[in-house]
Amino acid sequence: MDSGFAELASVDGVITATAEATVPLKDDGLYRGDGVFEVIRLYDGRPFALADHYERMQRSAAAIELPLDRPALEAEVEALLAAAGPTEGQLRLIVTRGGRRIAATEPVPAHAAAATVASVTYQPTLILNGVKSLSYAANMEATRVAHGRGAEEAVLVRPDGTVLEPPTSSIFWVSDGELRTTALEAGVLASITRARLLAALAVSEGEWPIADLLGASEAFLASTTREIQPVHSVDGAELGAAPGPRTLEAREAFAATVARELGD
Ligand SMILES: Cc1ncc(COP(=O)(O)O)c(C=O)c1O
Repeated sequence: MDSGFAELASVDGVITATAEATVPLKDDGLYRGDGVFEVIRLYDGRPFALADHYERMQRSAAAIELPLDRPALEAEVEALLAAAGPTEGQLRLIVTRGGRRIAATEPVPAHAAAATVASVTYQPTLILNGVKSLSYAANMEATRVAHGRGAEEAVLVRPDGTVLEPPTSSIFWVSDGELRTTALEAGVLASITRARLLAALAVSEGEWPIADLLGASEAFLASTTREIQPVHSVDGAELGAAPGPRTLEAREAFAATVARELGD
């Protein structure tokens, strides 16, 4: 996306170009996907909601009994961001079972102006519900299944038909005049973008069947990398304007939140 983007990585505090960075092979982070991660947006080099990301990472680590040296990680991130300089991008943090602390700057992946979505049946794992663990193979496969159906993204749906979330974002939709999103109790991730939208807008949290989403007048995906991405269809059902009025309102509210928190 950003051709001049310097991808830098810090592994236990040693900073190199990401292409040169290495980690020891023998690490259950790789062997078993045992570890935690975070992705933080960098606006002109400034991390958005960094404290919230560290806190979620600590909760994820606690949930899988993974030691996490937050002061060391914070110092390494500070050094990495100073080396990367002011740039639009994102920061990936990983802590592995083998004890590696990894931080890397990346360009933000490109996303379509509006997404088509396909529902994919998914059984929450319970132990990993709400945990941003390195075991994301199921989420990635769900996106490939959606691609196979001609959609850009999946929305995970429980076997009983309850809407959960897309594999790497939250979903909001308008039904019965309400802006709705799935409640955390359903087992979805405590998305930081979602939390900012809940603070800024009137949103109903609950558990709704996929039929409610299919009949929505508009919908959008929300995440660190997508910010607010309109959805124009779900399982082939067209939802109306993408972006619709509530999506535009959410986009404005989120942009205002980012500007306020970054002191612009
Ligand atoms: C499963 C899942 N849900 C939601 C999100 C969005 O979270 P955030 O807004 O904190 O980026 C993510 C982020 O990658 C995710 O992996």
